[in-house]
Amino acid sequence: MALRSPAEARAGNVPIVRSVAELRRVVGEWRRADESIALVPTMGALHDGHLALVRAAKARTRRTIVTIFVNPKQFGPREDFSAYPRGEARDIALLTGAGADLLFAPNVAQMYPPGFATAVRVAGLTDGLCGPHRPGHFEGVATVVTKLLAQALPDIAFFGEKDYQQLQVIKRFARDLDLPVEIAGVETVREADGLAMSSRNVHLSGAERAVATSMHRVLLALAEAARAGNPPRAAEAEAEAALREAGFARIDYVAVADAETLAPHDGKGGRARALAAAWLGETRLIDNVPV
Ligand code: PAF
Repeated sequence: MALRSPAEARAGNVPIVRSVAELRRVVGEWRRADESIALVPTMGALHDGHLALVRAAKARTRRTIVTIFVNPKQFGPREDFSAYPRGEARDIALLTGAGADLLFAPNVAQMYPPGFATAVRVAGLTDGLCGPHRPGHFEGVATVVTKLLAQALPDIAFFGEKDYQQLQVIKRFARDLDLPVEIAGVETVREADGLAMSSRNVHLSGAERAVATSMHRVLLALAEAARAGNPPRAAEAEAEAALREAGFARIDYVAVADAETLAPHDGKGGRARALAAAWLGETRLIDNVPV
């Protein structure tokens, strides 16, 4: 597999491909050898949550492809595309250590050549929660993930449960479009104090970091209240008050939702999820726990 630049080969790093054609060539070789393939799409700035996806992938398939692409289409005009953390050298070291078989790191022109005109939109699931707060976000995610799946043709693709609505959206379009791939969710990896790992956590100041830990605690209490049969809307209001009390000044939502449709949960049985999105300064945090 003549994939590595001389420097990369010397360092024994994970092989990197940057074009769809190169990616297809490698995938074709693996397919001819009858090797199963996993895809782990990321936007880089990797942390233990991403490495858990790689571990889950390696446990299920022979080959693991990780993608790093900071997808401009999923950032709104006032969002943090340019400020999104980037650090390819560190990411390469982490992926090499984790035993990934290939890194696909295309640039924007490779993914969206001039004239690119297609979008994948999932109705319903994107109406609530993050949807209204991030117009166009899930369309950007669905479009890029559809492309990545078509480019790599994996057997299984792995996504973190931290982005729970994203996971449901991806499962939905994969089913709706009859994509021959399993979409697998992997449990959120947390810091010792419960904060969900996220590439955006690096933006938190010391004071914000201290407040951030309360989101998980408040969500656990909300899930407990919902499990105990408290009316979901009243429990949500209490959780929102608790987040404000902890120091979150701007809260996008706190919700108990059906675990699959993401519609507001009526508290009358069926699987549910407690979810929240709130801001600390310029950083938007999201998290969720099962009810
Ligand atoms: O979760 C992410 O990092 C991104 O939304 C994804 C799935 C890689 C698509 O750009």
